[in-house]
Amino acid sequence: MGPLTEELIRRLLELKERRRAVILAHNYQLKEVQDVADYVGDSLALAQKAATTAAEVIVLCGVYFMAETAAILNPDKKVLLPERSAGCPLADTIDADGLREAKRRHPGVPVVCYVNSSAAVKAESDICCTSSNAEKVVRSLPAARVLFVPDYNLGHYISRGLDKELILWPGSCTTHARVKPEDVHKAREAHPDALVLVHPECSPEVVELADFVGSTSAILKFARETSAKTLIIGTEMGILYRLKRENPSKQFYLLSPGLICPNMKYTRLESIVHSLETMSFQVKVAEDIRLRAKEALERMLALS
Ligand code: 13P
Repeated sequence: MGPLTEELIRRLLELKERRRAVILAHNYQLKEVQDVADYVGDSLALAQKAATTAAEVIVLCGVYFMAETAAILNPDKKVLLPERSAGCPLADTIDADGLREAKRRHPGVPVVCYVNSSAAVKAESDICCTSSNAEKVVRSLPAARVLFVPDYNLGHYISRGLDKELILWPGSCTTHARVKPEDVHKAREAHPDALVLVHPECSPEVVELADFVGSTSAILKFARETSAKTLIIGTEMGILYRLKRENPSKQFYLLSPGLICPNMKYTRLESIVHSLETMSFQVKVAEDIRLRAKEALERMLALS
């Protein structure tokens, strides 16, 4: 680490203390951001931490919907997203009008929304889910049909083995959608002893070829517990940092060079320092929307 980085980290820690802030980072963040975070986790864990933190300021190093989730759960705290433009193309595939229209087409059908969605979409939903608990959430509903938005691939993955019909929204993550079945075939050819671990946001054709499918936390857990020494990772490359650190005797390969989410890479140490200095960008949610979105999130948290 050079002297400039050391100075940046010193400044960041000083500001964090002064602002009584907690830094939460997603598993896909840059390694230097993960290193300064108080907590690094998947979407569910970040929502759980945001719901229970005693800090006055939450700096959410991730993408917009993650900061919005923290703001929905914490009306009395300041929630900062260090890079305002860090969005989620998957969340952007549906808005509240689109969901209301889908609800009109399927009257009485309960709505499960993936946490990768806006507060306004959450407000129109009965319950939220993440990739860690999607199946459990859908199973908890006493209904034969469920409207699942916006991630088609996750919905398709959990619908296998369910005694319910899932009506799926055609949204997907542009990063995970880049992975093709040929990538799995090529990776297996190059590393015949390796296991292939993928995120359920990958396409059904890719999921079909994998040895393990799970959220970022589930992938981290599987990697720690398996006796396999070589693992091919089918999710955003930021996770490799933790995987390698937690499993120094194992080899990790990225399933596709396209597994880079530009939005997750916007946040740098400079962004966090600037954010804490200027208390920007503060994420706020209109109270009427927040209250309804909070119900959907709290139903999920109660199940988790
Ligand atoms: P996880 O909940 O598995 O961390 O997924 C986050 C995400 O946004 C994947 O694109």
